[in-house]
Amino acid sequence: ADPFPFYGEHQAGIVTPSQDRLHFVSFDVTTDKRAELAELLQEWTAAAARLTQGEQAGPFGAVGGAPEAAPDDTGEALGLPASGLTLTVGFGGSLFDDRFGLAGKRPPALADLPKFPGEQLIPEISGGDLCVQACAHDPQVAVHAIRNLARIGFGKVSVRWSQLGFGRTSSTSRAQATPRNLMGFKDGTANLKLEDTDLLREQLWAAREDGAAWMAGGSYLVTRKIRMTVETWDRTSLAEQEQIFGRNKGEGAPLHGKKEFDTLDFDAVGPDGKPAIAADAHVRLAHPSFHGNAHLLRRGYNFVDGSDGLGRLDAGLFFIAYQRDPRKQFVPVQLSLAKDDPLNEYIKHVSSGLFACPPGVRDAGDYWGRTLF
Ligand code: HEM
Repeated sequence: ADPFPFYGEHQAGIVTPSQDRLHFVSFDVTTDKRAELAELLQEWTAAAARLTQGEQAGPFGAVGGAPEAAPDDTGEALGLPASGLTLTVGFGGSLFDDRFGLAGKRPPALADLPKFPGEQLIPEISGGDLCVQACAHDPQVAVHAIRNLARIGFGKVSVRWSQLGFGRTSSTSRAQATPRNLMGFKDGTANLKLEDTDLLREQLWAAREDGAAWMAGGSYLVTRKIRMTVETWDRTSLAEQEQIFGRNKGEGAPLHGKKEFDTLDFDAVGPDGKPAIAADAHVRLAHPSFHGNAHLLRRGYNFVDGSDGLGRLDAGLFFIAYQRDPRKQFVPVQLSLAKDDPLNEYIKHVSSGLFACPPGVRDAGDYWGRTLF
């Protein structure tokens, strides 16, 4: 398969048909010099332009440089193709402070998320000044890319936290089959997809008139690491599991329907005379029709970070969603889920991130975040 283009109006890795693997990283900036930060973004851009095309991180590569110097690529992707690698950068709210004189440029849509009922966020694996999302079909390629960006950033940034995802839980194109999350359900059926051009313009891409001209063509990213107590879930009856989501487990169809893509009908009544989709079903609580037509482009990944020492898998969903304005999209949806979703009995939000992902890099003379500096 051909590599995904790196240059364009928008960053790759958002509407790009979601790849199978993820390595997500959040960095703290350790320099307080604005020029060094801009320089780093230029170096990262140059490396990303190469890596995403299946080349090594630097011009000499793992073995082509001077023997007395550390190589400009770490080598573990030698011989591997681009594997659909995309690298997507984002800026956290904490970047817009006095250190870099960027306070006046903080987009209104990058307002801190409110505290949600029931969340148990761990600060050490939340937030961050910068993030990079690496997606690829090969985990080695995604990890290699993040590792090399961290290497290039030595002395200017340090890794705050990072997360691997081993399987996509979303489709972002109608050409893709819907994958399954670790609760065994199809996930990503009703999602913003790259074919929805009008909706993408309205709901995904930031525009000049949104209050931060430098973000035009960019998008806002929310990440949530959501632990699942899969052991409890696995002892729950099939009927209850299906009621919780409002869709059946086999086909992913609405509980009143037959096929995955049948339209949800919240007025439909089941054989027992009760609503086929319960008033608190996940798909109803999250549905655009109850949130001023707010859509999300979900792009999450399954994770299993080993086990927790108490006989349980440390498993769940690394939720990723892109949107034009989290204040109107993620926040109201998550507020109603946090309040009423029966899924809450089986999940716990343990990490949170919010990032402004700038527009795409136009050509070799451009760089990630140029419009901000
Ligand atoms: C739909 C699972 C968390 C927003 C769905 C569906 C499943 C699912 C199985 C139905 C299939 C589909 O249409 O994609 C989960 C699981 C979660 C979780 C297991 C946590 C571990 C969230 C969160 C949000 C969210 C945190 C946003 C705040 C949505 C939306 C839909 C959806 C917007 C589509 C609703 C529609 O238009 O029909 N989710 N989800 N989900 N979920 Fe979640």
